[in-house]
Amino acid sequence: MTAFSVEAEICVLPLREINGPENIRICILPTEQLAARFAARSILNIPIQKPDAIITFATGNTMMKPYAELARLSHVYDVRWSTIRMNHLDEYGGSCNGDSESFARYLTERVITPLGIVNTHLINGRAKDLKQEAARYESLLHPADLMILGIGPGGHIGFNEPGTLFDSRTHVVQLSEETVARDITRGQTKRTHAITQGVGNILEAKQIYLIAYGIEKGRDLNTALYESIDPRCPASALRLPGIGPKVTLFIDQEAAASLNF
Ligand code: F6R
Repeated sequence: MTAFSVEAEICVLPLREINGPENIRICILPTEQLAARFAARSILNIPIQKPDAIITFATGNTMMKPYAELARLSHVYDVRWSTIRMNHLDEYGGSCNGDSESFARYLTERVITPLGIVNTHLINGRAKDLKQEAARYESLLHPADLMILGIGPGGHIGFNEPGTLFDSRTHVVQLSEETVARDITRGQTKRTHAITQGVGNILEAKQIYLIAYGIEKGRDLNTALYESIDPRCPASALRLPGIGPKVTLFIDQEAAASLNF
């Protein structure tokens, strides 16, 4: 099946497209489900157009629907992921592939296995020395063709919490109180540290897709898009000179309602 067929599917979704600040493309779909579907269709074009692309995958609740749709579409259109190189955006300290809450396991179950990706680089959150593990991981990285992001408390991207420098590389991070509280509210084990690719790693990607749904994420996005470009809101780095045109947001109508276009 060709990219044309995938594009044809895209056309039937009720998309509203806005040119955001610094030429960030904002794709608004009426519902979470449709935003996820549209994002998945866009991601699917990457392995079709560049079979050896490097893709960094975020995890989290936001990504469950797009990844499930990506698996379904890859099956329907017989899209091959075997020559894609997959990178891991972030991982909790103390977590590794065997743990039910680890991002490595999430990626294995929702991305690596369903898509049949073989060339994978995962962060070992269980490493004895997390700093050393961050340095090891950084040494494996090349700029991604596609960086898939969500957005979290305080406008974090990856686990780059408010205050993270825009030129940061893969590093160990102390999770913000807001992030720790959010995870506990979700019934997860209390985790205080993580390893994350830095804002610098994110910005050097050739394309950046950020997916978000709902009022709360819309508010964080509004700060990122329409308030000052400041490390206090890491996602505002997406508006730095030269970055905006590489960025596409896939959001639902609820998130869009929080934006002051
Ligand atoms: C996870 C990640 C985080 C999440 C963010 C939103 O790999 O990079 O930035 O994208 O915390 O998480 P959810 O989607 O679970 O609300």
